[in-house]
Amino acid sequence: MRSLDEIVGEANTLFNSISDTTELEQVKARYLGKNGELTDLLKALGKLPAEQRPAMGSQINQAKDQLEALLKDRRLFLQEKKLEEKLKEEALDVTMPGRGHDKGGLHPVTQTLIRIESLFHSIGYEVASGPEVETDFYNFTALNIPENHPARAMHDTFYIENGDLLRTHTSPVQIHFMLENKPPLKLIAPGRVYRCDSDVTHTPMFHQVEGLWIDEEANFAALKGVLTNFMACFFERDDLSARFRPSFFPFTEPSAEMDISCVKCNGNGCRICSHTGWLEVLGCGMVHPNVLKHVDIDHAQYVGFAFGMGVERLAMLRYSVSDLRLFFENDLRFLKQFN
Ligand code: DAH
Repeated sequence: MRSLDEIVGEANTLFNSISDTTELEQVKARYLGKNGELTDLLKALGKLPAEQRPAMGSQINQAKDQLEALLKDRRLFLQEKKLEEKLKEEALDVTMPGRGHDKGGLHPVTQTLIRIESLFHSIGYEVASGPEVETDFYNFTALNIPENHPARAMHDTFYIENGDLLRTHTSPVQIHFMLENKPPLKLIAPGRVYRCDSDVTHTPMFHQVEGLWIDEEANFAALKGVLTNFMACFFERDDLSARFRPSFFPFTEPSAEMDISCVKCNGNGCRICSHTGWLEVLGCGMVHPNVLKHVDIDHAQYVGFAFGMGVERLAMLRYSVSDLRLFFENDLRFLKQFN
């Protein structure tokens, strides 16, 4: 039979060689488990002569206590070691240099929208908005484009299943605003519009800014003044000239298209203006009485003018961008130039 000291000594060496807590518990069973060496010794006490039993029993129990104590120490040691390793692993070196981050910038179309908004804001226009999914009434009917009117064919409309549509222009915001507010009214409505159209100069989604001024004495001269001034400020050109060509829009009468002298060649003729010296920049006109009727504004008392412009077009002219699609490709090499 091995001496108790021998057993304790061996167990101690064994425990200290183990660095895994589960393994430690398994090894513990070798000595203290159901069939462990010390357990067996205790069981065998009965075979000893009666006078030897108490002394032997207490020696075995002492050895058991020693083993328990050794195990406890080892467990504690292993737990502490594990914690230490974990802390070391998770430690942050706060003295390391930061990774830095790229500076973002506003998209040129957003910059243009902000510029347009702030110029109109400075002369008292408030900014309004409306839904991008519209009903036929707001996008067409209320704007004096009745069903089967040929003007509907000018808009390549995206329809959705229930008969609603993606607005083809920002003009329906005029209707929302006039139904919700009492004149006099002075607003611009920037936003996204959608047309089923895609080529070098058209994208299925683009931006427009609508303008509307309703009051007792709005007139065409004021319309010309506001828009000519706006363009001069927008392009930062005091010498900008403008002309208004008769045109047709169902929601305005009379209607006009506004041209400005080419911002590239000053009207001398270049590729940008197709050698005409003029750039077409927006549509406008005096609000049609039928539109006012739809929103219950008394045409005998109130008149108004409206205009609508394409934001990408203005951005292209201001920043000399020659391809519309560049605005939608999100190529950072392009976008970074506007930071
Ligand atoms: N809604 C027109 C379009 O998308 C633009 C327009 C023209 C708006 C004349 C107006 C306007 O308010 O008076 O082509």
